[in-house]
Amino acid sequence: MSSRFDIIHKDAAGRIGRLKTPHGVVETPTVMPVINPNLQTIKPSEMKDFGAEILITNSYIIYRKDELREKALKDGLHALLDYDGPIMTDSGSFQLSVYGEVEVTNEMIIDFQQKIGTDIGVPLDIPTPPDVHFRRAEEELEITIDRLKEAREMVKGDGMLLAGPVQGSRYAELRERSARTLSEIGFDVYPFGAVVPLMESYRYADLVDVIAASKKGLDPTAPVHLFGAGHPMMFALAVAMGCDLFDSAAYALYAKDRRYITSRGTYHVDGLKYLPCSCPVCMSHSADELKKAPNCTELLARHNLYVTFEEVREVRQAIWEGNLLELVEQRCRSHPRMLEALKQLYKYSSWLEEVDPASKSTFFYCGPESAKRPELLRFGKQLDRFTIKGSALIRANSGKTDNQYDNVLMFKPPFGAYPQELAEIYPLNAEVLRTPDYESLEQAYMNTIRLAELNPEAEFTFIMQERFEHPLVKELEEMDNFTVVRLESE
Ligand code: GUN
Ligand code: ZN
Repeated sequence: MSSRFDIIHKDAAGRIGRLKTPHGVVETPTVMPVINPNLQTIKPSEMKDFGAEILITNSYIIYRKDELREKALKDGLHALLDYDGPIMTDSGSFQLSVYGEVEVTNEMIIDFQQKIGTDIGVPLDIPTPPDVHFRRAEEELEITIDRLKEAREMVKGDGMLLAGPVQGSRYAELRERSARTLSEIGFDVYPFGAVVPLMESYRYADLVDVIAASKKGLDPTAPVHLFGAGHPMMFALAVAMGCDLFDSAAYALYAKDRRYITSRGTYHVDGLKYLPCSCPVCMSHSADELKKAPNCTELLARHNLYVTFEEVREVRQAIWEGNLLELVEQRCRSHPRMLEALKQLYKYSSWLEEVDPASKSTFFYCGPESAKRPELLRFGKQLDRFTIKGSALIRANSGKTDNQYDNVLMFKPPFGAYPQELAEIYPLNAEVLRTPDYESLEQAYMNTIRLAELNPEAEFTFIMQERFEHPLVKELEEMDNFTVVRLESE
């Protein structure tokens, strides 16, 4: 069913893709601005100017209001919003999660979405919040899956795409099982649901677990929507884990609270002395003018949208270039909770390693977390490809070849020792710290110990510089085929 999604380029689990909808092709990753059919300051027809390729609105809000419902049924959703590009509609599930009930059934809202000509429709799934008992999460998941099956029966052919939201609260087992079941039924887009409470409370590490578990049950080539994620600070992270679509009500909601979004976090407009952005709003106002403007909310919403799509382009370019994880590491240093998420992300490095392209742009070591990157895990797994016989010199600097030795190896943290012919080849051409940190050395020595173990017939001599001191050197010294020669100065 996901044949309507083509993947053009990949990095980590992230990808640039193209999703075909009845109203045109959407390039992913992208953000769908949330349109409130009742009050909308920035008109849908203007959204393309910010970079939007697809909008999202709520079919339940339209359904509930006679005037909107009649017009949508008569002229269609696109005429109602005066927008001719792709539009996704949500079902009222979010209202269900907030108010506990809604005035529609799954069947009614699916039928309505089809009738008004939605591009991507959503069944009435149950967003089970985090931290509920397993039994409740499982029961609600069963109801969700029944409704999704019902919706799938109703939606056939190549018209409206149908989304199959993955639920299961914070239970990895339920998320994965749910994703697997939905994949068997076959949907066009897979939103990961009920993550808003995690994001609202900055539980980004938990969000990483939820995304990883849900992705694990899905076909990796299926398009994924992270429901309710609209802050640009976390796009890079979520994209690196394989999320393709986001929706942002944040641009408008934050503006209402007088908050100014950036890819590093959020400012309160009243605390701004400078405007650090170059969008049309920020270039035509000083911070003081913005604060005092009678239409400050609208101006902030516009700025928030500009920076949201700026980050979308930044993320796409990073995928294109093959340095998405460098961007993720930068963004994750904006907030300690995001840093926790980065550390959590690299607990899934073996999964990322399976999907990550084998060669991409130069690896940049950006801090101790980089030592856990999937590329390093792959390098460690491939150490058995190096067969070393006879004497082997390990040194940090390339220079005149020493003819005394059968082999010359380079030592470069966080990789460790490797044949010097590979020095200019990816990933060993990495840009790394000249004075390595503890984690980088840890990784390098683990690999070097392993290399010495894999080649018991070889005799290694390591010319070690002071900057490479680490507790693991002692383990190397204790190996039968390893000699460490300490260089006092370079
Ligand atoms: N909006 C935010 N979260 C959710 C969700 O889990 N399901 C649906 N349908 N809409 C949402
Ligand atoms: Zn701006």
